[in-house]
Amino acid sequence: MNSLFNRCSIRRFTNEPLTEEQINLLMKAAFSAPSAKNAQPWEFILVTDPRKLHELSDLSPYAKPISGSALGIIVCANLNRNEMIDFCEQDCAAATQNILLEATELGLGGVWLGMYPAPGRSERLKVVFNLPDKIVPLWMLAIGHPDEQPSVKDKWNDAYIHYEEW
Ligand SMILES: Cc1cc2nc3c(=O)[nH]c(=O)nc-3n(C[C@H](O)[C@H](O)[C@H](O)COP(=O)(O)O)c2cc1C
Repeated sequence: MNSLFNRCSIRRFTNEPLTEEQINLLMKAAFSAPSAKNAQPWEFILVTDPRKLHELSDLSPYAKPISGSALGIIVCANLNRNEMIDFCEQDCAAATQNILLEATELGLGGVWLGMYPAPGRSERLKVVFNLPDKIVPLWMLAIGHPDEQPSVKDKWNDAYIHYEEW
């Protein structure tokens, strides 16, 4: 699967916007993810307003790439659909990886920007979007047209594979 093996984090983007079709395909990919008990506990806040994206980039010292991206996605867990946050995280992570793979497939690039559970970061996101109870912002994605050469890392490591026993 080419998009899987060619995916790498992209942190610099041109100012070309995404089309509605591209955004819909990214969301379709997200919704294709598996989830525990098929609870689908994810929520996605889509942001294209450059001022809002800049504001989001200040919420973590490592979130700068979202400023200048074409699309910011805030991935949230909805605890009303699965009250166990750990399961929500696993489901939302699967959806997030699907988005990154679909972005690669479309010739776009993106990067995962961690927020939860770093102290304060998720809480700040909650305030920015005035989120209701039981909606937990987990992390953000910056997506856009790459303005840097992709650099795919070779992460194969024999030592991390255990055959039949530890
Ligand atoms: C949970 C998680 C949090 C991450 N947080 C950040 C972040 O805050 N800022 C950033 O620039 N990259 C972040 N990344 C991207 C990683 O740095 C990147 O995936 C890693 O260096 C491997 O590189 P690759 O994605 O090109 O394979 C995060 C990735 C994950 C999975």
